[in-house]
Amino acid sequence: MEVFDLIKSRHSVRQYTDKKIPQNVAEKLVSYAETLNKQGDLNIQIFFDEPNCFNSRMAHYGKFENANNYIAMIGKNSADLEERCGYFGELLVLKAQELGLNSCWVKLTHGKSAAKKEKDEKEVIIISLGYGKSQGGKRKSKTISDVSDVSDNSPEWYRRGIEAALLAPTAINQQKFKFELKGDNKVSVKSGLVGPCLKIDLGIVKCHFELAAGKENFAWE
Ligand SMILES: Cc1cc2nc3c(=O)[nH]c(=O)nc-3n(C[C@H](O)[C@H](O)[C@H](O)COP(=O)(O)O)c2cc1C
Repeated sequence: MEVFDLIKSRHSVRQYTDKKIPQNVAEKLVSYAETLNKQGDLNIQIFFDEPNCFNSRMAHYGKFENANNYIAMIGKNSADLEERCGYFGELLVLKAQELGLNSCWVKLTHGKSAAKKEKDEKEVIIISLGYGKSQGGKRKSKTISDVSDVSDNSPEWYRRGIEAALLAPTAINQQKFKFELKGDNKVSVKSGLVGPCLKIDLGIVKCHFELAAGKENFAWE
């Protein structure tokens, strides 16, 4: 599937069927996570058939159902850890989507994960996984002009990148980011100042922008 179609087809899904993730699918995800761990200097761990993390009051409150598989985004404490978890976590979310799975980023509405971490590591966020009872649905979105300086003269790759950024999941659907094109090919994106998980959101949004705009067309400023 084209990457833009994949991005369009992803929606948060919190209720899953009880269908297990087959071993060949699980292996593909784990192997991709290993690659991303190397690229992003992270310690991403994936759990299958582990119902305890979403068996908490918070998870029930968040209306999670059959959330028995999840990704724990973990890495050594550093200034850019949250942004890296957002960026590399979203690559995994899209891989899961490509493999026919559904997912949801979950900062608050989960219990204790089974992940093992070193003293200097932090569990930044969880991503639930499974076969959705539905594929999720469209939600409200800001517009291109709310979040960028796109005009009639903007290059096509830039507009495409912003469209993909608007389809990115953000905490409480806050979409607090602003893109600016500087010169022909320098792109700056800044997140808002107040809101939950802004740095994770920024990593996710940059991932979508890069995939749709094409890394060869621009450089981050
Ligand atoms: C960083 C982050 C944290 C999130 N935390 C939660 C959460 O704790 N509970 C939950 O039900 N959804 C959570 N979500 C899912 C968002 O509510 C969802 O992505 C947003 O409403 C946009 O909808 P979409 O993913 O269908 O595009 C989180 C999303 C992100 C990106």
